Amino acid sequence: MRTETPQPIRLSDYRPPAFLVDEVHLDFQLEPNATRVRSRLTLRRNGEHAEPLRLDGVRLKPVSVAIDGRPLAEDAYAITPEDLTIASVPDAFVLETEVEIDPEGNKALEGLYMSGGRFCSQCEAEGFRKITWFPDRPDVLARYTVRIEADQAAFPRLLSNGNLTQSGALAGGRHFAIWTDPFPKPCYLFALVAGELDELADSFVTMSGRQVELRIYVDPGMAQRALYAMDSLKRSMKWDEETFGREYDLDLFMIVAVRDFNFGAMENKGLNVFNSSLLLADPETATDFDYERIEGVVAHEYFHNWTGNRITCRDWFQLCLKEGLTVFRDQSFSGDMRGAVVQRIKDVKALRARQFPEDAGPLAHQVRPSSYLKIDNFYTATIYEKGAEVIRMLKTILGAEMFRKGMDLYFERWDGHATTVEAFIQCFADVSGKDLSAFFAWYEQAGTPKLEVDAAYDAEAKALELTLSQATAPTPGQPDKQPLPLPVALGLLDLDGEVLSFRQEGTLAPATEAVVVLDQARQTLRFEGVASEPAVSVLRGFSAPVRVVSAAPAKHRYVQLAADPDLFNRWEAGQDLARDLILARAAGEPDEVGEERFAEAMGRALNDQAAEPAFKALLLSLPSESDLAVISAPADPAAIREARESLRARLAIHLGDQLRRLHGGLQEAGEFSASAEAAGRRALRNAALELLAADPRAINVDRAVGHFQAAGNMTDAMGGLAALMLMGGEPFEQALTAFYERWKAEPLVIDKWFAVQARSPSEDALGRVLGLTTHPDFDAKNPNRFRALVGTFAAGNPARFHDPSGDGYRFLADQILAVDGFNPMTAARLVEPLGGWRRYRPELGALMRAQLERIVATEGLSKNVFELASRALE
Ligand code: ARG
Ligand code: ZN
Repeated sequence: MRTETPQPIRLSDYRPPAFLVDEVHLDFQLEPNATRVRSRLTLRRNGEHAEPLRLDGVRLKPVSVAIDGRPLAEDAYAITPEDLTIASVPDAFVLETEVEIDPEGNKALEGLYMSGGRFCSQCEAEGFRKITWFPDRPDVLARYTVRIEADQAAFPRLLSNGNLTQSGALAGGRHFAIWTDPFPKPCYLFALVAGELDELADSFVTMSGRQVELRIYVDPGMAQRALYAMDSLKRSMKWDEETFGREYDLDLFMIVAVRDFNFGAMENKGLNVFNSSLLLADPETATDFDYERIEGVVAHEYFHNWTGNRITCRDWFQLCLKEGLTVFRDQSFSGDMRGAVVQRIKDVKALRARQFPEDAGPLAHQVRPSSYLKIDNFYTATIYEKGAEVIRMLKTILGAEMFRKGMDLYFERWDGHATTVEAFIQCFADVSGKDLSAFFAWYEQAGTPKLEVDAAYDAEAKALELTLSQATAPTPGQPDKQPLPLPVALGLLDLDGEVLSFRQEGTLAPATEAVVVLDQARQTLRFEGVASEPAVSVLRGFSAPVRVVSAAPAKHRYVQLAADPDLFNRWEAGQDLARDLILARAAGEPDEVGEERFAEAMGRALNDQAAEPAFKALLLSLPSESDLAVISAPADPAAIREARESLRARLAIHLGDQLRRLHGGLQEAGEFSASAEAAGRRALRNAALELLAADPRAINVDRAVGHFQAAGNMTDAMGGLAALMLMGGEPFEQALTAFYERWKAEPLVIDKWFAVQARSPSEDALGRVLGLTTHPDFDAKNPNRFRALVGTFAAGNPARFHDPSGDGYRFLADQILAVDGFNPMTAARLVEPLGGWRRYRPELGALMRAQLERIVATEGLSKNVFELASRALE
């Protein structure tokens, strides 16, 4: 059992830094096992006080400490495992330190480490303290000069932030480079990369006519696979100029791809570092989904240059200031690149898959949290995706033009500073003259509001009374919830699917769409001039991150599925119908007539010539098993899976000929295109096949085998393999073997091979996954590989993970504990699937809980895993 409970850090305890750093000079003597880091900091006391100088530093081997050129006596300073304290220092001085670190031995992948024989770094949030002593907090902004020295043959490229100001050869086969970054930055944006890398070079001319050199660095031989990322980068730069008036500031922008990385990517100033899975793509090895993600993440990290780097966070509680805002920006960019509706549906699906369960369980937290043990645990769907929804609502409430004005003011007022969410919102209050204090509650109140919609139509008066009410269930630490200002976009359709106009009470002109802001627990709105009984299309475009509960009859949803001009709600109507049918069946009350009717309506929707293929592909995919688990209480994953598969089988049988025709007709000829249109056609073709897989008769098995064998790109190869996985048996095994043989030299593809097996619905899935943990290609030290197998099984295979034996839970706990020994951040990210224990059938919940208890009781557990597992138990 742990003896001491770690103490949380609280937002209310924020104090400005006691000392500021103006200049940082770093000198790296790179050696894999013993790198020397010399640092020269120009420091000054911040305000009048007599506090000692305290600098963060973890796992640093001290070599020397000097102030203003004089070495300090051993008793003049104190070193603990977490910091260096010097009791008495002048008001302004130069501190020189030297430490030794071991990048090769660093398997936590935080600080300076080695990946594939190259040096790379990850400092956000608190990794810089593993490199040198420093006030490792985002509100200390300094100018950096970095000198890197290494063996020239082993490490031909030496990169850091800013501009290369000097480089050259040295005696003994060594060489050096000096990088200067003119922009003051917090230390979490520091980066260093050294090693053998191929370069893809391009350039971009900014709106003011400056030429910026663009460089992407990848493993030798991989430069062609960076072309799509380069193209995405140039489009991002242009888009940020056009949409937000933001121009890039340095003369050089670099991206490096690394194979071993705990997250997606990192926005270090002028030197972004990417997980190679989010950078490298070509048609043979990457799916359309990979392309989409690359485009989105390249944009995300680039956009951080303004929202994150030039304006950064005062403290880590403000993380959503940069992350929610930057996700909002990258989502808007992707919508402009690929079509707003399809993008919106995908973003909402991701929100429901990741954020809604978080918000409904013991790990629920505010978009701006008020305490934490390890900030790394707060890089969550709530901070990122819900944070983006909050910005989106702000834009909906203020209108596009006022939103842009507020952003302009934010950039002007806060450029070069570390600031807060309050300061951000204040900009919008100032430009609009609106009181946004009630809106601020979106940052401070956790939990997903439930929006209830109740419509009463008075045929005689031609009036509709719409009662909207909201409620949010308690979350840990927040038993009482307040109503939030909820923008609800809505419109009306008659029962033939024609748009109905209406007059909102108090307005004269008839309209076909309105946005009302529900800011009370309950409000009744009256609409007049409504010609006939309407189907009410509420929360168009998913105008607020809430769960809608509506008593509207199924026939209204069918009207929407066929004709809602808001395509988001057209899709949503299909999801709602499917959800109700699946949950009814899971509860032992199948609605056979309803299922037939649904199948027919889906058939008609698929025939709609006006609808885009990408949209139809989304229509065909039913709510996921985990989405359904979040809304059923208590959740029974086995019953949900059976009911969902049975509805899929009905669709596959009822629509069999239509799906096969669709699948055949969309076969691609000619050159591969990564365009959104071509990807949409592939998505629909693969969605048709996936649905057919629910009816594993010979013609469908043969079709999947043929699809897999004929695949000319990775999207189709994975589509075929996934369909075979759903049907199981010999054809799947053969395809797996063929796939492995073809791709065994490509780690990013082999990750997919592990992941598809982890999603297998067959009874022996856990046995297979266990077997794969001893496969020669399995490597728990590589986060991509580890997540592909263990993460996919725990989060992407609910029916097998929640096996009544509890073996799935035990397996996950074993894996968390094993990885926690060397990589706490990656281990901690896997706690979430156990966190929802309260929402599951009590027999399952007890088994989940038991594993959490076992984890918490483990000696030597990291703070990361301890925080999440213990909160999950509360
Ligand atoms: N700031 C990075 C991004 O672009 C993510 C950094 C993740 N760091 C962490 N400790 N979780 O979203
Ligand atoms: Zn980010």
